[in-house]
Amino acid sequence: MPKSVIVISPGYPTEVNYFTRGLALQGARVFGIGDQPPHDLPPVVQDCLAGYLQIQSLLDEEAVVAAVKEWKAVKPIQQVECLWEPGVILAARLREALDLPGQSMNEAIGFRDKDTMKQRVAAAGIRVPKHRRATTISECVRAAEDIGFPVIVKPIAGAGSADTFRVSSRHELDLALMRMGHIRDVNVEEFIDAEEYTFDTICVDGRILFYNVFVYRPRPLIARSEEWISPQTVALRDVDADYLRGGREMGRAVLDALKFQTGFTHMEWFLKPDGEAVFGEIAARPPGARSVDCMNYACDIDLFAGWAEAVLHGTFSPQVERKYNAAIIFKRAQGTGRIRRIDGLESLYHRYGSHIACVELLPVGAPRRNWILTLISDGFVVVRHPELQACLAIADAVGTDLRLYAR
Ligand SMILES: Nc1ncnc2c1ncn2[C@@H]1O[C@H](COP(=O)(O)OP(=O)(O)OP(=O)(O)O)[C@@H](O)[C@H]1O
Ligand SMILES: [Mg+2]
Repeated sequence: MPKSVIVISPGYPTEVNYFTRGLALQGARVFGIGDQPPHDLPPVVQDCLAGYLQIQSLLDEEAVVAAVKEWKAVKPIQQVECLWEPGVILAARLREALDLPGQSMNEAIGFRDKDTMKQRVAAAGIRVPKHRRATTISECVRAAEDIGFPVIVKPIAGAGSADTFRVSSRHELDLALMRMGHIRDVNVEEFIDAEEYTFDTICVDGRILFYNVFVYRPRPLIARSEEWISPQTVALRDVDADYLRGGREMGRAVLDALKFQTGFTHMEWFLKPDGEAVFGEIAARPPGARSVDCMNYACDIDLFAGWAEAVLHGTFSPQVERKYNAAIIFKRAQGTGRIRRIDGLESLYHRYGSHIACVELLPVGAPRRNWILTLISDGFVVVRHPELQACLAIADAVGTDLRLYAR
């Protein structure tokens, strides 16, 4: 009997389409719930869904739980999967309401609430930035003064670096708090001056069956503040390098501390110039912004199907041979409005040919995306090369020589 699995928001963002297809390819009956009308679902998702329930809003969790309980077509549900940050708690709630195995509410909170996350991680002896939760302006000020400037101020439940600020003085703190006006629950943190990496896994019953390490170029906070930058996320070929040991060991310890069992995880960590690894954050889902595609290009594997196999059958059969460093480069057009011209692509193909694995740019005529709200921005290119320095050089060339213009 095929398993009946619910996927939260199968149509959005794009990578969830491929995870949804992965589940179907691995033999599940896949049901979707989401706020998109069924006819707006991408064809790849429509083709592999056994049913779809459109709900008003994924944020109204009680209403979603009630609607799913009423949903006859899907009975009996055996599993609930979510690959998108805003749905992680909802998925846990659905599991508890329907008495299904998988991540519980309490476990999910450890991945969603940045303060609880750090407390649990720190309790396991892992190095986290000094941090303090604050709900009023005076609490923020006191926390910043105790920790010492510069500090980072960010919402407790954040994603996409939105509303995250580095502040180096009382005056800057006041400005940041003013800009965060609508947010009442924030974390004030020691600013860690370091390079930023990830540790991403697919686990089954707490065992890591696949892992990946990305380096961010430049640091995400900088990439998010300067529009001219083409941010890069680079899947490293030599994930077992010595200098990454601190992050790998931390990754394992964090998964244990948060009792993670089965599915995708995405941890961000800092590597300080003195070699110390510091915990950043972790999510119970894959990295976003098409980074899973980049991981696939690094090894020529299909992690969408690999993940599905892991969560459905408890096995992971893709042969992981790390052939390349793979970089995904996000492009932002110059100007506002619609894309009018794309320059430089032919010359890049001419120079780098087969090292360019994938190009997905907005077409001429399309309106620009909001580069602050979405790392994808106006599109991306994936490049790869067995040698890291060569990969980075090609990625930098895509950054500077590929130009999109909008008007
Ligand atoms: N304590 C810190 N020290 C230095 N930089 C930090 C710190 N906390 C956050 N940052 C910077 O801010 C960025 C966003 O922070 P964080 O990852 O916690 O938030 P987020 O909203 O989940 O963002 P995203 O979804 O982009 O990962 C980090 O990638 C890092 O560049
Ligand atoms: Mg982050």
